[in-house]
Amino acid sequence: MKSSISFVCQECGYESPAYLGKCPECGMWNSLKEFQTQSSNRRSQNHSSKLKNFENIVPKTLNSIVSEKKGRIKTGFLELDTVLGGGIVRGSAVLLAGDPGIGKSTLLLQLGLNLAAKNEKVLYISGEESEEQVKLRSERIMGAKKTSQDFLLISLNNTDTASEVIQQTQPSLVIIDSIQTMESEAAGGLSGSIGQVRFAAASFIRVAKTQNIPIIMVGHVTKEGMVAGPMMLSHMVDTVLFFEGEKTTNTRLLRSLKNRFGPVDEVGVFSMEEVGIREVTNPEHIFLSENKKGVIGSVLTVTMEGTRAFLMELQALVIFSKLPMPRRVASGVDQKRLELLLAVLQKYGRLPLDTMDVFINVAGGIKVTDRAIDLAVCLAIFSSLKNISLSNMVAASEVGLLGELRPVFSLEKRIKEAKKLGFKHILSSKTHKTLSEVIKSFGGYSN
Ligand code: TYD
Ligand code: MG
Repeated sequence: MKSSISFVCQECGYESPAYLGKCPECGMWNSLKEFQTQSSNRRSQNHSSKLKNFENIVPKTLNSIVSEKKGRIKTGFLELDTVLGGGIVRGSAVLLAGDPGIGKSTLLLQLGLNLAAKNEKVLYISGEESEEQVKLRSERIMGAKKTSQDFLLISLNNTDTASEVIQQTQPSLVIIDSIQTMESEAAGGLSGSIGQVRFAAASFIRVAKTQNIPIIMVGHVTKEGMVAGPMMLSHMVDTVLFFEGEKTTNTRLLRSLKNRFGPVDEVGVFSMEEVGIREVTNPEHIFLSENKKGVIGSVLTVTMEGTRAFLMELQALVIFSKLPMPRRVASGVDQKRLELLLAVLQKYGRLPLDTMDVFINVAGGIKVTDRAIDLAVCLAIFSSLKNISLSNMVAASEVGLLGELRPVFSLEKRIKEAKKLGFKHILSSKTHKTLSEVIKSFGGYSN
């Protein structure tokens, strides 16, 4: 059996027959690594055996096909079910990506325990922690409650053994924690390398599809991208979930970045507690801090995450700068967007910001890309600069380069959400045409 060598980008999975310094797909430098591919003989063997498998397959009538909704397994977490599009689809492959320590193992362990409690057999394959460690964690989560016999645990990191165990166990769900720890002699490279990860993911996905067993794989993400290319893995699986949040806060968001069986961009909200992860089913105000009356430099906004509206608090601090180039520090908001909004405020709000240091922060450690926060950013800066409190209102509008207020999507929904939480004063493109109009209404210009 011949094996050939190709070079695979660790970032995006681009494959090239020759070494390249820069990946033509994603533009990363030095990201191509040598990778042993399957020989063409083996590929054609695989191909012909697959063709044989297809011999007995006949097309079905639409009526005879059972709706996939019925085949879904409920996870016991409503938030997770929503993000998945109604539960786990049998035979699907899910990647749960996120920073190390964010709570992926905890979430999946709880999911496993939930299913086992409903007599669904769950197989948890841990390549990171020993069986005792997982047991300790489950005791912390379950307390005195007894764990069901249907939760099966094995600590191993051999891809081929793991595939074998799955086939023999025939569980309702397999959890692989994590895909980076799985290795096989049949794949080249060290554990965690792109070759090993790809081989492991392909093996598990094959089992999932052929045995109709859903599989959830954990994938760690590092600052430099994933240890072995999140992009590559996301092409291989049906669903990619991303678990995120600041480690210093309890709040965790679960997003679906790709979903063959449900919506994308939907978010689920969780809270990391002493005794495991808890879902937050009424999360509209979790990003608000308490006691907000009369605070200077704080303005509320409503952002949309998927189909959900969240109230968020924008905080600004504006002080005289001692530097020739005043500082502009944005956390949770795009730095370039902040600079642009400062320029608009300076020109159309006539605020003397060129001599000021400006710091902006989204409370709760959340990153927001929704343009609807523009007006709140501007008003928080205005509030801090002028020492005026604007904390009893909500602002939801994009601000254009000409200082105009632009409509944002789902405005009605945002307004409804703000009203539900008791805010009557809602600033948007419906109430004002321009930023300078809004600023004037609060006591206006500096000169
Ligand atoms: P973990 O699930 O191990 O993260 P990941 O698998 O994404 O690397 O969770 C890591 C952190 O969560 C760890 O610092 C301890 C904390 N934790 C809790 O706060 N409460 C709990 O009940 C558990 C089990 C962990
Ligand atoms: Mg873990």
